[in-house]
Amino acid sequence: MKFFVDTADVAEIADLAAAGLVDGVTTNPSLVHRAGRNMLEVVAEIAAAVAGPVSAEVVATDAEGMLREADVLRAIAPNVCIKVPLTAEGLKACRRLSGEGTKVNVTLCFSAVQALLAARAGASFVSPFVGRHDDVGFDGMALIRDIRRIYNNYGFGTEILVASVRHPVHVLDAALIGADVATVPPAVLRQLLRHPLTDRGLEAFLADWAKTGQTIG
Ligand code: G3P
Repeated sequence: MKFFVDTADVAEIADLAAAGLVDGVTTNPSLVHRAGRNMLEVVAEIAAAVAGPVSAEVVATDAEGMLREADVLRAIAPNVCIKVPLTAEGLKACRRLSGEGTKVNVTLCFSAVQALLAARAGASFVSPFVGRHDDVGFDGMALIRDIRRIYNNYGFGTEILVASVRHPVHVLDAALIGADVATVPPAVLRQLLRHPLTDRGLEAFLADWAKTGQTIG
């Protein structure tokens, strides 16, 4: 499973990329707001720092407007992926952009039939929001399971990009189901590394090593 990092914080992305944890990046208007940066500048910096797809989201709500914004965004760098909402207008824009060879991430997916529509529109990625689904009393992972099954049934190449990931168990479950990608906030990506037995084991090894009085090199 690929890991995308869900942030517009360039310093975080660079740090995680150095550890080999970043196959791509997803941003959205809320994350750009949180970063307090100009969107076009921040997308350009991220796209230069990461080889994989960098999702940049349109904010127009009509297809023609989305396409105009997509032209600006995809001119930034070849690895910019256009993010459109899962609406009829978004799917129109998706179909056009995908037909032109531009990668499209269809976002705000909350049902398996919506994901089916995104795949039919030629999306490269569909983003089901598991955390927000859980928040309102549905099972976000059941949604991922259904989408996986539907895409397998018909051989759709659209990648399932699990979004709104809130904790490591979301990542574990997504991997067990066979989702293609998880887009993970930096803090959760770091949590994936942690295990108390790793910390305790390292502490014990270092304490014993100090007792040997040796150095390496
Ligand atoms: O990728 C979508 C994600 O940013 C939404 O996450 O935690 O705001 O539901 P959240």
